Amino acid sequence: MTAPGGPGEHATPDSRLTSEDLRSHRWYGTDGLRSFSHRARTRQLGYLPEEHLGKPVIAILNTWSDINPCHVHLRDRAQAVKRGVWQAGGFPLEFPVSTLSETFQKPTPMLYRNMLAMETEELLRSYPVDGAVLMGGCDKSTPALLMGAASFDLPAVFVPAGPMLPGHWRDEVLGSGTDMWKYWDDKRAGLIGDCEMAELENGLARSPGHCMTMGTASTLTAAAEALGVTVPGASSIPAVDSGHDRMAAESGRLIVDLVWRRLTLSKILTAEAYEDAVATVLALGGSTNAVIHLIAMAGRSGITLTLDDFDRVARTVPVLANLRPGGQYLMEDFHFAGGLPGFLTRLTDVLHLDRPTVAHTTLREQLAGAVVHNTDVIRERAKPLAQEGGVAVLRGNICPDGAVIKHIAAEPHLLHHTGPAVVFDDYREMQRTINDPALALTADHVLVLRNAGPKGGPGMPEYGMLPIPDYLLKQGVRDMVRLSDARMSGTSYGACVLHIAPESYVGGPLALVRDGDLITLDVDARSLHLHVSDEELTRRRTKWTPPPARYRRGYGALYEDQITQADTGCDFAFLARPGAAPDPYVG
Ligand code: FES
Repeated sequence: MTAPGGPGEHATPDSRLTSEDLRSHRWYGTDGLRSFSHRARTRQLGYLPEEHLGKPVIAILNTWSDINPCHVHLRDRAQAVKRGVWQAGGFPLEFPVSTLSETFQKPTPMLYRNMLAMETEELLRSYPVDGAVLMGGCDKSTPALLMGAASFDLPAVFVPAGPMLPGHWRDEVLGSGTDMWKYWDDKRAGLIGDCEMAELENGLARSPGHCMTMGTASTLTAAAEALGVTVPGASSIPAVDSGHDRMAAESGRLIVDLVWRRLTLSKILTAEAYEDAVATVLALGGSTNAVIHLIAMAGRSGITLTLDDFDRVARTVPVLANLRPGGQYLMEDFHFAGGLPGFLTRLTDVLHLDRPTVAHTTLREQLAGAVVHNTDVIRERAKPLAQEGGVAVLRGNICPDGAVIKHIAAEPHLLHHTGPAVVFDDYREMQRTINDPALALTADHVLVLRNAGPKGGPGMPEYGMLPIPDYLLKQGVRDMVRLSDARMSGTSYGACVLHIAPESYVGGPLALVRDGDLITLDVDARSLHLHVSDEELTRRRTKWTPPPARYRRGYGALYEDQITQADTGCDFAFLARPGAAPDPYVG
């Protein structure tokens, strides 16, 4: 689990470090030329030796950027983290790292998740760092930062960016993402016009912070809290609440203590912690993206997490969070209803309560005193939103390595459905042609999109909620069965089968589907079946030719060469594999 040569390798459980044991001591504390130089250059930064020598150096990895509205407050919040680090006797240093803005980065920030993970790991490795505070929240930032930090295995605390304030339009409360999709469809159906859209544009996103539905950001920050790497209750604090400042300062104080106590991430990110994170995201009715990210994160901790683990756990936990897109409320409601500590008290029978967290010796101790204040937002076990966890894993001849569906966010009548396929090879082609009445689509058709997976997308964009044709929207159709090897925004909804593996671009069976083929989705049976004989599929395969590589050079070529499939977490093969990556020699 610990990278050989990493700082955790030298840790003696339950013993405290001395100043000479600090990793940064090798940069600052010896008699050699290099330490002399590093001390001189730290004076150049404006610090006297007595301000930093012998203190844990805490790297604050900040994903702030002017282009990222979900993290735009993190520049200020880093000051609160620094305040906490100074108060606890540490030496804070802020490092700007890549920002992954779900809204602005194209083709998708998923293309760059592993780049931020790699940057995180190598930055921690190459600088005099004893512990890290990781600041992020917009979808891919949370897994990226934790994947990189887990690979290097320092003590680390995650500071979630926090959800933005609820959106408002006239007398309605708006959820980012979720209500954007809803009202865009209303516009396409002719139910609202440009005036209403202009007002909605003003009201959808009212403050800094990540999406305030139980989308991918809220799901992953909740997973981080469930894993035990945040201050308790941190993940639901609204980004602009002054409690967020206090949480950031507390994270700064906490990380210094973790360094002295040698509490490296591998002691927190155990198999039990990952199983609890899976149970948490399923009981939250969280984003399907969490499946890919948690598998990848666990891999960096040396733990094999599979799609079958998600399906197994999903059958043991009900959905208890009444949050959009599957439910009614938003993250601020969840926060005041008790937040994740209150929520986890509903799951104590399935959680591993004796495991440690960064803040407490055991999760049991951490949850002591946590309460639920609103039982409509955080449901009792006897009154769940759904009897089973929010994601179902499907198998079948189209998806031999699996696929997922967020069935709680689909129209129930579509969860057992057979219909003829209409196939799109390319997202742009689909956008061009989907509204053409000549396609004569009905609500029974199964929309199929391919070449949208990890390699084919590239980056597995969130194309999975394929648009319903305008003319069907006008007839009142609001959901159809849709299949793809893409992902879907955590704020989206519908009978969308996602993450089909292997993807079509590498020759998965999805590549062999033709218009008119009958497809059956049966969520109860966890099955997705293409009604085409094996012999016919073999014939079609002989005629299939692999598409040309998308990239000839640059990061894209590295991505295309190394990316793994959705069922194994879309990590880079060379980053996911175990093996030595030594701490650098300082001398
Ligand atoms: Fe950043 Fe939704 S756009 S979390």
